[in-house]
Amino acid sequence: MPSEDAAPQLDVDQILADPGVRIIVCCGAGGVGKTTTAAALALRAAEQHGRRTVVLTIDPARRLAQSLGLTELDNTPRQVKGIDVEASGGELHAMMLDMKRTFDDVVLQHTDPAKAAEIFANPFYQAMSSTFAGTQEYMAMEKLGQLHARGEWDLIVVDTPPSRSALDFLDAPARLSRFLDGRMLRLLLAPARTGGRSMFSLVTASFGMFSKVVQKVLGAQLLTDLSGFVAALDSMFGGFRQRAEQTYRILQARETAFVLVAAPEPDAVREAAYFAGRLREEKMPLAGLVLNRVHRPAVPELDAEQSRAAAERLTELGGHEATADVLRAHAALARQAVREQQVAARFTEAFPGVPSVSVTAQPADVHDVDGLRTIGAAISRP
Ligand SMILES: Nc1ncnc2c1ncn2[C@@H]1O[C@H](COP(=O)(O)OP(=O)(O)OP(=O)(O)O)[C@@H](O)[C@H]1O
Ligand SMILES: [Mg+2]
Repeated sequence: MPSEDAAPQLDVDQILADPGVRIIVCCGAGGVGKTTTAAALALRAAEQHGRRTVVLTIDPARRLAQSLGLTELDNTPRQVKGIDVEASGGELHAMMLDMKRTFDDVVLQHTDPAKAAEIFANPFYQAMSSTFAGTQEYMAMEKLGQLHARGEWDLIVVDTPPSRSALDFLDAPARLSRFLDGRMLRLLLAPARTGGRSMFSLVTASFGMFSKVVQKVLGAQLLTDLSGFVAALDSMFGGFRQRAEQTYRILQARETAFVLVAAPEPDAVREAAYFAGRLREEKMPLAGLVLNRVHRPAVPELDAEQSRAAAERLTELGGHEATADVLRAHAALARQAVREQQVAARFTEAFPGVPSVSVTAQPADVHDVDGLRTIGAAISRP
């Protein structure tokens, strides 16, 4: 029978205690527990290992945010009060990513105030900075770069955006810079950039119908907005790419540890395996897999079949329905546990050297510091 025990055990405390580890990135498919894991690891690093820690959360659930003292998006880390750091001397700071403000800051850093104001006023920028697919991923990277550059923390724990695919986080910077200096976009915008009509007629002539269709679909006003936007961004293309590349290099450094989070479900585990493969290609250090929300029966020694048979026998005998129900519930849980182990084993077979750890599904959502502490302890002492 495949067993999760086949994988080496992930020792989270060793990672959290290691002064050489300065960045932990929690990634994985949507809804698997990235934000919870990031916050739990950061809390544990501060409370148990005395590290000055900052956690960058992305779209945390409202109650979790509140319990970390995050009441609004303000894009700067705030110290979390009321945690147990007296003995360890650690600190926990937390922030929620404000994607639009982060984008604005990048623009401000790369251009003069007048040009920046022009960009901010552009409707295309306004739409893109808050809704463009990948902007959130890119800005999470950007923010990580900024926090790292400040050098104020022993450990930065980064949550990643609720993308459908975990890979979006790694692909976003390249996609965004491709978009920003996309040849098609440049061609379409040529009239504004050359300041004359000749280029535009040339494009119109060569693209004929295409250009007309684009104008019709996008509208003339949007094209003008777009051209203003790209003209203003033009000088920053190098800057954007350069920053993304810098952050990429940080992610490849030995000071970084990726923690892959997956639910014990086929899709999430498949996603985790893609991601692990991709990290290997990119030479980014994968510390291990956290298999979150696994089910464990109270008496693992009693297997599903024995339990089901006993329940049937009791029913035959009559008068023991409550006990029979408990046995049936146990049988269902035991079957689920086996299924989950089989799913997890697919990852372990593909990546036998990657350590993993299972975290039991809690009876309720994790939305306060106590809940995070419980998860942190479960990750460390499975
Ligand atoms: N081990 C667990 N036991 C019980 N509930 C959990 C556990 N881990 C996470 N949860 C709950 O599952 C929900 C999703 O978790 P979380 O928000 O951390 O996932 P996520 O991967 O960040 O999701 P998204 O991709 O949407 O950002 C939350 O309500 C959280 O409290
Ligand atoms: Mg999340």
